[in-house]
Amino acid sequence: MIPIMVSRRATSVQYSAIREVFDRAPKDALNMGIGEPDFGPPESLRRGLQEAIRRGLYRYGPTKGLPELRQGIADMLRSRAPGITADNIMVTCGATQGVMTSFQALFDPSSEVLVPDPGFVLYPPDALLVDAEPVPYYLWEEDGFEPRPDQVQNLLSPRTDGMVVNSPGNPTGGVISKGTVKALAELAEDHGFIIISDEVYDNFVYEGEHASFLPYLENSVVVNSFSKCLGIPGWRIGYLVADTGIIDQLAKVSYYGIACPSTPIQYAVAIALEEIEDHMRDHRREYDRRRRLMVETLNTIPGFRCAPPKGAFYCFPSYDQDASCLELANRIISAGVICIPGCAFGDAGDGHLRFSYAASPEVISNGLERVRSVVEGMPRLSSAACGLRKGKPC
Ligand SMILES: Cc1ncc(COP(=O)(O)O)c(C=O)c1O
Repeated sequence: MIPIMVSRRATSVQYSAIREVFDRAPKDALNMGIGEPDFGPPESLRRGLQEAIRRGLYRYGPTKGLPELRQGIADMLRSRAPGITADNIMVTCGATQGVMTSFQALFDPSSEVLVPDPGFVLYPPDALLVDAEPVPYYLWEEDGFEPRPDQVQNLLSPRTDGMVVNSPGNPTGGVISKGTVKALAELAEDHGFIIISDEVYDNFVYEGEHASFLPYLENSVVVNSFSKCLGIPGWRIGYLVADTGIIDQLAKVSYYGIACPSTPIQYAVAIALEEIEDHMRDHRREYDRRRRLMVETLNTIPGFRCAPPKGAFYCFPSYDQDASCLELANRIISAGVICIPGCAFGDAGDGHLRFSYAASPEVISNGLERVRSVVEGMPRLSSAACGLRKGKPC
């Protein structure tokens, strides 16, 4: 029973289905549901945090973040967008706060915000929590899950104030090309809306290269995080990059949410910034190996199809078994393997499952053998019926 004083906003959102999957899974399950790297922080970062404690950094810091960290982030990003300075940066408590604060600062109750479907679980609830309306734009497997600018254009209305783009993408692993980034930035410029570009997997690209919205800050806010690239999702630290006028508005809103990001964590990250590329190089190579293993194995499972994802650390195969993704995921979870049903990421995710390869090769191989034994013998759909399941070919 919901107490009467709970807001309509609160009841408009549910817990993420991902959380429910983890609550249901057997304790000893093989975990391919996970959305965080299985490597930890580099040594310099651990030492930096110890030093911060030794130095007694226990006070509030500036709302926009410690100046040395903002400067360090700007220096790191300058090769992607030469004009960036510390004034374009605001440090956040992870990308989760970065996205929410952007929504609060940029959208009104009348706003429509385009969100990817399938797309990460934050975006539609964040729109609802600021009384804006999330409008899904579909991503297609045959396009490598890149948005189609012409379809996006068809969804624009006088109320469109924003669009969320996520590349490399969760759950799809899709990576957007430079051409698509440019086309979407031009659309935003022509139609007067802002792009919120979630680039938390920018260091996890295995084919091609990451195309950022950083060169288009007149029309975009870039969200990023140290959770994935430094292996510290529990430390809760990330950042926003935007035009200086927008940064001031974001900071005002952020103050009322968090006051400031954690001072010792910022101090440590500022020390480790220069190491991100070295830290990532080996991990990226290892993740690429796991990616290939997972794609290869998935494609040997009857009815499963998985094009190699170019980035992030997820595979998002389609399947033709006659079962909703929730049903199939439940059977797989009961067999002791954690995966996430595609519909957790929007209606267009039905007919898919998400498997994370931030897991050891043994877990990937053994887990997918269990998946094979679950689906073998299950009734299959014809390709026409399969297409009807979600209005697009599977
Ligand atoms: C696409 C995407 N954006 C944002 C986040 C949240 O990142 P953070 O830990 O920085 O809040 C995640 C976490 O899985 C993610 O996958």
